[in-house]
Amino acid sequence: MNPPDTTAAPTRPRLSPLKAVRGMNDVLPDEAALWQRFEDAARRVLAMYGYRNLRVPIVEPTALFVRGIGEHTDVVEKEMYTFEDRLNGESLTLRPEATAGIVRAAIEHNLTYDRPQRVWTAGPMFRHERPQKGRYRQFHQIDVEALGFDGPDVDAEQIALLARLWRELGVADSVRLHVNSIGDRHDRLAHRAALVAYFRAHESTLDEDSRRRLAVNPLRILDSKNPAMQSMIEGAPRLVDAIRDESLAHFEEVKRLLDDAGIGYRVDPRLVRGLDYYNRTVFEWVTDRLGAQGTVAGGGRYDDLFEQLGGKRDFACGFAIGVERMILLLADAGVHAADAPLAYVVHDAKDPAVAREAARIATRIAERLRDAGHAVVVNAGGGGFKSQMKRADASGARYALIVGEEEAKSGAVAIKPLREPGAQRAVPADDVGEALNVADR
Ligand code: HAM
Repeated sequence: MNPPDTTAAPTRPRLSPLKAVRGMNDVLPDEAALWQRFEDAARRVLAMYGYRNLRVPIVEPTALFVRGIGEHTDVVEKEMYTFEDRLNGESLTLRPEATAGIVRAAIEHNLTYDRPQRVWTAGPMFRHERPQKGRYRQFHQIDVEALGFDGPDVDAEQIALLARLWRELGVADSVRLHVNSIGDRHDRLAHRAALVAYFRAHESTLDEDSRRRLAVNPLRILDSKNPAMQSMIEGAPRLVDAIRDESLAHFEEVKRLLDDAGIGYRVDPRLVRGLDYYNRTVFEWVTDRLGAQGTVAGGGRYDDLFEQLGGKRDFACGFAIGVERMILLLADAGVHAADAPLAYVVHDAKDPAVAREAARIATRIAERLRDAGHAVVVNAGGGGFKSQMKRADASGARYALIVGEEEAKSGAVAIKPLREPGAQRAVPADDVGEALNVADR
C-alpha cells in the first residue's frame, strides 16, 4: 500500500461569486469612455465660468441632511443609508446629495468670509430608491454651487452654463428647461397656513393619508393622485398668489436675462423640487428620451441653508447634473467616445534570443511615441502572432506595429493600418513616428 500523498493541495469547495449591491453599478471600460468625455466637457465649461473644484466627504453626520434637506422629505424619511459609527455611536449617513456638505464646508472654513465663491464637485451619491432605468441607489452627480451671490444674475448664469454644456455635447435639442419661483420662506409659510386652513375646512373630503399629512407636510397633499380629492385640490390656495413683490421681481429679472441670452424656457408653476432648502428660483432640465426618469439636471436658489446649518445668513444658488442620465441621453443621441490607442505593438519570433530583441524594439518604439504624446499599447503576456493581431484589432488602435523575426534582425518595424485600407510597409524602428506622421504632436 502506498503511503498517503501529503504533498497534494487540499481541494477547496468552489465559492459562489459575489455580486454588486442592487442599484449600484459598475462602469466598465467600454462605457467609461463616454463618462470621461462627458466629465471632460463639464470640467471645461465649468472652468469657462470660473467655477473651481472642491471636494467634500461622502460620509457626513446624519443631522446635516436632516437639517439641510428637511425632516419630512422623501430623501430623509425613506432613502438615506444611515449607520452608527462603531466607536462612538454617532449617526452617520452616505451623502444623498452634495449641497448640504458643501455648505457645511463653506461655514466650517469660512469660505465666503471676504468674497463669494463658485465651486463644483463630482462623485457618487446614495439614495435607497427603487432601482429602474435612470434611477439607482448609487448614482453620480456633478454638483455646482455659487455661494454668497444674491442673484438673479448668478441664477441665469448657471442656466446659461448648462445650456452651453448641452450645446458642447450635442444634446441641446433633446432637453427642455422648466423654471419656477417658489418664493421666500415667509411666502411659503403664509401659503402653508392658508393651505392648512383650506384643508381643515374640507377635512371630510381628505383620505386617511392626507389627514396624516395635514399635520406634518400639508404641501404633499397637493401631490395626491386620489381622484376623489382632485376637484378639492384644484381649488386650494396657490403658492404663486402668496409670493411677494421682491421674489416676483427677482424671478422677472431671471427670465429677462434668459430671454437676453436666447435661452428658451417654460414657466412651470407646479415645479417645486423634492428638497426643502429651496427658495425663489427653481429649475430643471428634462428630456423625453429616457422614459419616467427624464430630469437630467435640477437646482435652484437656497438662501436659508447657511442659517439652517448654523452659519451666518448668506445667499446661494446651485444645481446638480445626474451623470447616469446624461450618459443614457448621450448614448441615445448617438454620441460616441473612443479611448483607442494610436498603435498596438505586436512582437514575436521563434528563436528566444530574437524574440527578446523584438520585445526590446517594441518597448523602444512605444516609449518614443509616448514621448511625443501618443497612446501606445505593447502586447504583453506573449501569444502567437495571430492572437496578438486579434488583440491589436480589439484595442481599437489605428495601426499595428509589427516586430517579427525579420524586423527584429534588421531593426525594422512593419506598419499595418487597421482602420483604413493600405498596404503593410516596413520602416526603420527609429523612424516610426515620422512614418506615421505623428512624430511631433
Ligand atoms: P436632485 O434633483 O435631488 O437635486 O438631483 C439632481 C439630479 O440628480 C436629478 O435631476 C437626477 O438627474 C439625478 N438623480 C437624483 N436621484 C437619482 C437617482 N436615484 N438615480 C440617478 N440619478 C439621480 C439635488 O441633489 C440638489 N443637491 C441639486 C442642487 C445643487 N441644488 C442646489 N445645488
